[in-house]
Amino acid sequence: MTAAVSTVHLFAPSIDLSLAMKIQLTVNGQPHSADVEDRTLLVDLLRDTLRLTGTHVGCDTSQCGCCTVDVDGQAVKSCSMLAAQADGCQVTTIEGLGAKGLHPVQQAFTECHALQCGFCTPGMVMATVGLLRRCPLPNDQEIAEGLAGNLCRCTGYVNIAAAVKQAAQQMKGGAA
Ligand code: FES
Ligand code: FES
Repeated sequence: MTAAVSTVHLFAPSIDLSLAMKIQLTVNGQPHSADVEDRTLLVDLLRDTLRLTGTHVGCDTSQCGCCTVDVDGQAVKSCSMLAAQADGCQVTTIEGLGAKGLHPVQQAFTECHALQCGFCTPGMVMATVGLLRRCPLPNDQEIAEGLAGNLCRCTGYVNIAAAVKQAAQQMKGGAA
């Protein structure tokens, strides 16, 4: 059965409607058609319009990685990508990753106590999924480099690195 396409409209106040464009993308397996401004960021489409607020905004300047999502198999900071650039793409957010039960990376973060306040965690998990896809059994250096774009103010990163290793072992190179 074909999933219904939802149509959403994202307009900031006082915009020039001639700047709006229609895009189509799939988010967490659900097709969407959206009217967006050419300046609309992917993170704003996800959070403000689709209400997928598991994707966090920590800086809005591509520094913290809290907004990381998967776009066509790549971990992407969604505050650094225009919604229009996601036209035709498959996007997975943290909500989609855990839709059928905890993903092994989410499970490992839980078991290794790799979070405290949790604000960085959705982005950290999505970045880890991307890292393990590129590098299925990363060593310490590869984990540090792979997650260098994701900042955590709480944990000191030790348990995050442990979680990445545990997830890698669990997935045995079969990155999901
Ligand atoms: Fe995107 Fe910080 S909100 S990198
Ligand atoms: Fe608090 Fe990472 S767990 S910022």
